[in-house]
Amino acid sequence: MAALRHLLPLLLLSLLLHVCFCNLMGVDLGLGYIKVAVARPGKGLELVTNEQAKRKTPAAVGFTEEGERLFGDAAVAYAAKAPARAILDGRALIGECVEGEHPPLCARKTLSLADGTVGPFSGEEIIAMLLGMARRQASAFLGGAVVKDVAITVPPWYDDRQRQAVADAARVIGLNCLGIVNANTAAAIKYALDGKAKPTEDAIAAEKAKDKKKRTPKTITQRVMFYDIGAGSASASIAEVTSDVKTGVASSVKMLAHAWEKGVGGRLLDAVVVDRLADAFDTQRGNGATPSRTLPRVMMRLRKEAQRVREVLSANTNTMVSVASLHDDVDLRTTLKRADFESDAESMLNLVGGPAKTALSEAKMKPEDLDAIVPFGGTSRTPRVQDELMKVLNVKALNKSINTDEAAVMGSVFFAASMSSTFRVRKLDFEDVYSRSISAEIEKDSSSGLFSGKGKPVVQKVAIFPDGSAKMPAKKTLSLNRDKDFGLSVYLGIDSLGKSRFPERTLYSKIKVTGVADVLKKLKDQSKAKTLTPRVALTFHVDRSGLVRIGTAESSVDETIIVEREVEIKEEKPDKAKGDKGKASKDTSSSPSAEVKDVTAENDKAETEKKENTDEESDKDASKDNEESKTNSKDTKKKKKTKIEKSSQTIVHRHTLTIEYDSSEGIMGMQMSGADLKAAQKTLKDLEAADLERVERADALNSLEGFILEIGSKVRNADEDDDLYKVSTEAERQKLVEVFNEGEDWMYTDEAKHTANLRKKHFELQKLFEPMQQRAKEFAGRPNAFKKLEEGIAMALEKVVELRDLHVERGSKHVGEFEKFTNFCETAKGWISEGIDAQKNKPLTDDPVVTLKDIMGKGLELRKQIERLVKLEIPPAPKPSPTPAVKEESSEKTDESANLTSSEGSSGEDDTIEKVFSGGDAEAAKADTASSGGIKDEL
Ligand SMILES: *[C@@H]1O[C@H](CO)[C@@H](O)[C@H](O)[C@H]1NC(C)=O
Ligand SMILES: *[C@@H]1O[C@H](CO)[C@@H](O)[C@H](O)[C@H]1NC(C)=O
Repeated sequence: MAALRHLLPLLLLSLLLHVCFCNLMGVDLGLGYIKVAVARPGKGLELVTNEQAKRKTPAAVGFTEEGERLFGDAAVAYAAKAPARAILDGRALIGECVEGEHPPLCARKTLSLADGTVGPFSGEEIIAMLLGMARRQASAFLGGAVVKDVAITVPPWYDDRQRQAVADAARVIGLNCLGIVNANTAAAIKYALDGKAKPTEDAIAAEKAKDKKKRTPKTITQRVMFYDIGAGSASASIAEVTSDVKTGVASSVKMLAHAWEKGVGGRLLDAVVVDRLADAFDTQRGNGATPSRTLPRVMMRLRKEAQRVREVLSANTNTMVSVASLHDDVDLRTTLKRADFESDAESMLNLVGGPAKTALSEAKMKPEDLDAIVPFGGTSRTPRVQDELMKVLNVKALNKSINTDEAAVMGSVFFAASMSSTFRVRKLDFEDVYSRSISAEIEKDSSSGLFSGKGKPVVQKVAIFPDGSAKMPAKKTLSLNRDKDFGLSVYLGIDSLGKSRFPERTLYSKIKVTGVADVLKKLKDQSKAKTLTPRVALTFHVDRSGLVRIGTAESSVDETIIVEREVEIKEEKPDKAKGDKGKASKDTSSSPSAEVKDVTAENDKAETEKKENTDEESDKDASKDNEESKTNSKDTKKKKKTKIEKSSQTIVHRHTLTIEYDSSEGIMGMQMSGADLKAAQKTLKDLEAADLERVERADALNSLEGFILEIGSKVRNADEDDDLYKVSTEAERQKLVEVFNEGEDWMYTDEAKHTANLRKKHFELQKLFEPMQQRAKEFAGRPNAFKKLEEGIAMALEKVVELRDLHVERGSKHVGEFEKFTNFCETAKGWISEGIDAQKNKPLTDDPVVTLKDIMGKGLELRKQIERLVKLEIPPAPKPSPTPAVKEESSEKTDESANLTSSEGSSGEDDTIEKVFSGGDAEAAKADTASSGGIKDEL
């Protein structure tokens, strides 16, 4: 029991550890940059820094000619050298179709690099690479912990096809996608989490004034515009953030509208700067020079420079630009004014206000309804962007209350944590808008349409989520009368705002629902029922990622049976009879059957069984009733009259039906599955394996190279003063130098391309060098080792004398042992001098006569001998006599033994031993001596 009590916290701890094996990450998937944040138990949400300790990493991948894959800044730098070998805006490929085809259903557009030697990669595969990079960063940040779950931000304008592709990219790299979240929604979540929507005194007072009874409101809702402008686009969203008045803590975030503009963003603004710089460079080089725009490397370097220039111009009104040897050893030198940049970008900057206006009109609001306007995203630092925004919204300042780079990724990791079943997070409800209506065409049965593939099916058209009623998440159950299997097609409605790339009414998915007829047949076979009313309930979901799914399909069959009952007619009490009648006529609602229906109001087969049981029971009850009433009627035969009353009873049988998506059509038809998914996963695995192999090879090559360089030069440059020289012959050294030179050349051969060969070569060379190295080591260490051993013997002999004297004094039988020990020491001394002599007569280039190991062995033997002596039993001192005089004597004796104890105890031999054996052996010796402290007790 006690043991269990000790174990319990441990058990709990291990359970917790198990449960919390749940590090997860949020990834802000920008066109220009990727940001990563993680959540781990007990640590909250943390922003991840990359290997360069930066908080954002360019969303770039490069492939060197040597086949090395580069990410982030390294890829961007490489792009300036080899523009054809890098992907700087892979995200733009996501959900795109090959030329001539149109979304949603089309062949995926792919990208090949360096004249087709690298790739082709689909958008999913490129995003998978970037997510892999994000995972490595997160894992490194967490000290190597596994990261399996992710939530990913996307721009609010991502359509269903693009969202699905991002989710697929996560699957390709083996991540579990907990959700796709709109970047603006993520930023709103972060705003709420940070308590930025804390009700102000003014707001509370204003609410109070509105209330007739002047009560303090419980919560206050802020209306906030989140305006995101990054590398690729700008978007504005309006959110309602509700916070508690007392605590100031936000309880919900509800997105009301999103609007966007793809014609403005950092990349496009960079292009304006690139244009100016290219013109300047062309002017600078004069007529006849190759135009900059035809030189990919020049353009790539200008593009990189433009980004920097634009950032500088955000804070300064002009800047000097100089790029060394941009082309043909000519430097670019020019000045750029903010005003010039702004006038060049005029038409583009004029687009900034658009999304803000549209979002307001969609949310049916005016600028003055907004409590705050919160800009974020890298390009929001551009002054003219802020000016435009303030102009269009008619405000004097923006609320720069969240970190422009980090808000979305921090929101996304919170999103991930709240989606994860293993994480417990602060309660914050959030809801997003799904902009299109969703409808379905439901086939009557399986005789035509989706099942048979021929004939025009008879369909029933149903609006599942009429315009504006769909949310993320949303759920709706549709009840249908169906007695056969059937197919249905789910459609997205016309995109009235023209936001999507497929604004027409679009097929989302085709679905077969099977099992309806089977269930009905089984029930018919079993049941004695007169009527069976089959129905099918389909539950439609728009999940938090904005993906439309059928969650469950369920068949429910109402079985109606008629129950006959004998009822007594009581003439004296007409009231009650009336009441009974009333009940009966109400049919199912108040008869026992209604209860049955209640009990079975949930689903599952188990419940159907339960129903059947209830059914039987109620049958039994009914017959009992009948018997009772018969007995009653026997007793009161002449007094009472009865009649037969009929009532109906309904039992609901529920079964889960099978849903099968048709993977060849609609938006869902583009979902990666089967062979496609496997192939993409293999592509990514192979790339990662190649990366790993490259790292390992580089390590192996490095250490071989280091070995050859270091040892090679040592051997080559050894002179008379070096031990290495003394212990080796000229021929030996010559041979080794040759082998090392060969090794150096070998490193550039094809054979050396394999990690295993590199390791083998390293081992071979080491083996060759080893004898010489060993002799040098022996030579260097020998004199000191002999000296230490000699000192040890001398010290031991000196210290042991005291102990021997005690043994002699007490008449111990072990005195002879001390003689043996002295002999041992003498022999050892002889061994040492013989060894030294023999070694003198032996060439140093031969293997040594006495090795360090031999000397160490002798030292260990000495230690063992000493230990043995210390442990020898010493006879007790003579017994003290009761007389005071003797008492004195005895106290003396005690003193004596006390002195002995201290001399024997630890210090004496211990020191000796420590001097003989250095390092770990001394520690062991100490421990041994300490344990021999048992003698004290014996004394
Ligand atoms: C937003 O900024 C405006 C202008 O500076 C200010 O009046 C308002 O109180 C701010 N809103 C919030 C919620 O901080
Ligand atoms: C024991 O130690 C005391 C004080 O250090 C000393 O006076 C005495 O002579 C010692 N006894 C022996 C037997 O060494």
